Amino acid sequence: MSTTRFPRRVNDPADFGRVAVVMGGSSAERDVSLNSGQGVLAALRARGVDAHAIDGIPALLDAVRAGHFARVFNILHGAGGENGELQGALQSLGIPYTGSGVLGSALSLDKVRAKQVWLSLGLPTPRFKALPRGSDVHAAAREIGFPLIVKPVWEGSSVGVTRVFESSDLDAAVELAHRSPGDLLMETLIEGDGTEGGEFTVGILGREVLPTIKIVPASAYYDYNAKYIADDTQYICPGLGGTAEDEMRALALRAFDALDCFGWGRVDIMRDRHGKNWLLEVNTAPGMTSHSLVPKAAAVAGLDYEGLCWRVLETSMEREGATA
Ligand SMILES: Nc1ncnc2c1ncn2[C@@H]1O[C@H](COP(=O)(O)OP(=O)(O)O)[C@@H](O)[C@H]1O
Ligand SMILES: [Mg+2]
Repeated sequence: MSTTRFPRRVNDPADFGRVAVVMGGSSAERDVSLNSGQGVLAALRARGVDAHAIDGIPALLDAVRAGHFARVFNILHGAGGENGELQGALQSLGIPYTGSGVLGSALSLDKVRAKQVWLSLGLPTPRFKALPRGSDVHAAAREIGFPLIVKPVWEGSSVGVTRVFESSDLDAAVELAHRSPGDLLMETLIEGDGTEGGEFTVGILGREVLPTIKIVPASAYYDYNAKYIADDTQYICPGLGGTAEDEMRALALRAFDALDCFGWGRVDIMRDRHGKNWLLEVNTAPGMTSHSLVPKAAAVAGLDYEGLCWRVLETSMEREGATA
């Protein structure tokens, strides 16, 4: 793990050496990752970086062991690339990579562990119950109360997520979430009221917190369709003003640091109708497609897509020579 949280700045693309942009893989978010990866690859090449696409972890490790690459830009989404496995493998091979290390990646991908860490530090996250297979979901729902949300602990892109307003809809929600690997999580549904609150996300780049984005989907919530297919989702950036904006950005950075995340990422936050913020999750290799959120926030902060990809690649520099 790196001792400093500030990535080194680079001016000459040759300093990066030959870069593998690892994308695709076998998670449910494969297609999103391929989209992100193609964007990153084109941007790095446009900036003169010797970057090459690699699909999935086995192919990457073969190429790295054969000495083909100096570093890795990781844009795999979901399990495998975002849960510490890839990070551990690369670390043991002595190859630097972008973003969070083993611990930050693993804690962030496990929504229950992330929430436990935040709660232990007094950071706000919706009330929840972890639901290992076979647990009494109706008893848990009575404890949490309706409305609630059911989601897989390890999944991303809203895959397997259902909002549940009454007990008769609970079994279907649980059945859907169980199609994803790993356990389930049930938590209090947080809602805005049209004016105050709603869904937000905050990008982190180095030690910089990008402006918040307020997400206003035309559908009921930010599901897979709203994320990747629909063009009628509204993004407001910055999503808040004055101290509310500052407070949410500060909370995002605390949440990111609490999970030992590094380099870049995106913190998903719900804000309720009373203006209280609730942490949902951290994404350690967030989307970089044309619909994606970090590129939108970076643009508002004055950083174009190519510049953003360059800055993310710089996060791989810090670990050179780091011991553990
Ligand atoms: N507690 C909650 N209250 C309201 N909406 C939620 C809650 N948790 C998740 N959501 C909705 O579900 C979406 C996906 O949930 P999230 O926890 O971010 O998982 P992922 O993005 O990894 O699928 C969010 O973007 C949000 O629209
Ligand atoms: Mg999310």
